[in-house]
Amino acid sequence: MPSSASPSTHRVTGSERVGPYTLLRLERGGLDPGNPGQFFMLEAPGRLLPRPFSLCLAPPGELAFLVDPIGPGTEALCGLGIGDEIAVLGPLGCGYRLDVDRPLLVGGGIGIAPLPYLAEKLGGSPPVVLGFRTEEHAEAAALLPGAEVAVDPVLVTELIGPGFDVMACGPEPMLHAVAALCPTAQLAWEAPMACGYGACYGCVVEIDAALKRLCLEGPVLDAHRLNGHVRYLVPAESAGAVSR
Ligand SMILES: Cc1cc2nc3c(=O)[nH]c(=O)nc-3n(C[C@H](O)[C@H](O)[C@H](O)COP(=O)(O)OP(=O)(O)OC[C@H]3O[C@@H](n4cnc5c(N)ncnc54)[C@H](O)[C@@H]3O)c2cc1C
Ligand code: FES
Repeated sequence: MPSSASPSTHRVTGSERVGPYTLLRLERGGLDPGNPGQFFMLEAPGRLLPRPFSLCLAPPGELAFLVDPIGPGTEALCGLGIGDEIAVLGPLGCGYRLDVDRPLLVGGGIGIAPLPYLAEKLGGSPPVVLGFRTEEHAEAAALLPGAEVAVDPVLVTELIGPGFDVMACGPEPMLHAVAALCPTAQLAWEAPMACGYGACYGCVVEIDAALKRLCLEGPVLDAHRLNGHVRYLVPAESAGAVSR
């Protein structure tokens, strides 16, 4: 549940390049950072709908989000400067369960985003393995000092040893591969999200063999709950084709 039902306005306190990504820092105001893996809806300047982002870091007085500029909304967020203001709603959804004995954090590409805050909440230095497409993307590993890093063609799944409680975030093919290796893994999934709190049904996928809203059930789910398949009611391509 969000700490408030309506968005609040937050000032940008910093915007830093991390490889090809941008770490966007916002004044925290009265927002609760929530549990790792929960997400916030950020106003995307000039766009009709907000966009969902995992909390990356929660330094005192701030909330920081790692943004991959892949389209108009994320590009607008990466273009914000100090002093600009945007509307923010959250924390939303269900994050990672932290009651694990032997955590291993697994991130792929921009899937690194929720892991620094997750590492902090797990006590600071759990083992972390990360996979990236290029050396430039791998610069984001600096957010998790001590992480083991694979760059394509080496896959991050090759770095996962046995006996860990895997907590993963990354692209869908990586999550399927992690689920096959670690059936008890906690996985952070994505679907197009227009509201973030259960009203629009844009994020419906098959969970526990029934159609459910990922923004309420997840985005973090135990691997078995998706039965190995994310099935959008509205294909992602169609959702992206409308101006939103
Ligand atoms: C719970 C959650 C947490 C997220 N956390 C982060 C984060 O921390 N950092 C980050 O950079 N991104 C994150 N994302 C993804 C981010 O929300 C999208 O990249 C963003 O909404 C794209 O907006 P856009 O206007 O830039 O591009 P659009 O034009 O909206 O999208 C570009 C392309 O990506 C597809 N697409 C967009 N969003 C999704 C989606 N959620 N699932 C599948 N396909 C999609 C579109 O169909 C289109 O093909 C998260 C998504 C979810 C659901
Ligand atoms: S994002 Fe609107 S119902 Fe899930």
